[in-house]
Amino acid sequence: MPLRPRDRLGVDSSSFIAYNPHMFTTVEWKDGAVRLIDQTLLPGQVAYIDCKDVAAVAEAIESLRVRGAPAIGITAAYGIALAAQQVSAEGFDDFYTALLPSCERLAATRPTAVNLFWAINRMKALALRLREQEISAIKEGLLTEAHNILREDIAMNHAIGRFGFGLIQPGSGILTHCNAGGLATGGYGTALGVIRRAWEEYKDIQVYADETRPILQGSRLTTWELMQDQIPVTLITDNMAAYFMQQKKIQCCIVGADRIAANGDAANKIGTYGVAILAKEHGIPFYVAAPSSTIDFAIASGAEIPIEERSHSEVSHMGEKEISTKGVTIANPAFDVTPAKYIAAIITEKGCFKPENLGANRPAE
Ligand code: MRU
Repeated sequence: MPLRPRDRLGVDSSSFIAYNPHMFTTVEWKDGAVRLIDQTLLPGQVAYIDCKDVAAVAEAIESLRVRGAPAIGITAAYGIALAAQQVSAEGFDDFYTALLPSCERLAATRPTAVNLFWAINRMKALALRLREQEISAIKEGLLTEAHNILREDIAMNHAIGRFGFGLIQPGSGILTHCNAGGLATGGYGTALGVIRRAWEEYKDIQVYADETRPILQGSRLTTWELMQDQIPVTLITDNMAAYFMQQKKIQCCIVGADRIAANGDAANKIGTYGVAILAKEHGIPFYVAAPSSTIDFAIASGAEIPIEERSHSEVSHMGEKEISTKGVTIANPAFDVTPAKYIAAIITEKGCFKPENLGANRPAE
């Protein structure tokens, strides 16, 4: 499928164009379905899938057709809005009881990114607030809330970019790990939002993208996305990062996060912790960029963050081809936790914070 023109971005496209100038749409509501760019096919094929029920939405999250913490939160919100449309119930109690299994199905898809649970809880809370209204109005309210979650996410990414780009000096080499871009969010990106803004300001930066084994979000997604915007990017394998730091090619590291604990410990794609240690050894600042929906104030430290263990075939196979010795024991944790002491600053839509000062991002009670 060819890239879609800017004027065909989904919801309320007139206001979205200003927020999301990219030539792809990660998630949107389209003709009564949840439309996703299928990230498992990138970069070879740009194709969109329409999820027409909550089972399809859950499958898309589990199989990483949509991935990245904010993007799965937005997708789950739309999944609940979709499930709500398909409930037939007379009164609120029956409606809510019928909706809950869909919320639970979506919550069971992936355990680490807190944005998923944040979005599901926000949708459930809205339904409860609207309980006195007609069922049709509740359904409409849930869809509007999903649109709001998407719109707010894009706006937060632009704010992260605005607050963060000043941390990057013109002429810098910037290392990033995994994909924390428009593909991982409603649009623009968190870590890549900061990089995009630095590029818009200076036109003089060089991104180094770790390929990000085992399933190559860096080489498949980050390079594709940056090349759409003509931002200079060099792909390296994960084990080259130390070399390029030693060669003084990298002046800062910037990554996204799946969940940040109250003390500033940050879970992100497996391998991020190693990058942070390397950065410290080389005296290079290591930044985390994430919206406040990624901060889990309910947990004191990163030790409480559940780490997803994914299919071992992601390690043993490259596409269809087996690349390891048949029968070998394999481990595949999808995330690791970078202790706060390695993080120079956490960039949110509210500003740049030392990990110990995250409190300003705490939601009002
Ligand atoms: O397994 P994935 O691809 O969902 O992991 C994604 C990451 O680790 C991202 O860096 C993180 O979600 C931040 S996205 C803005």
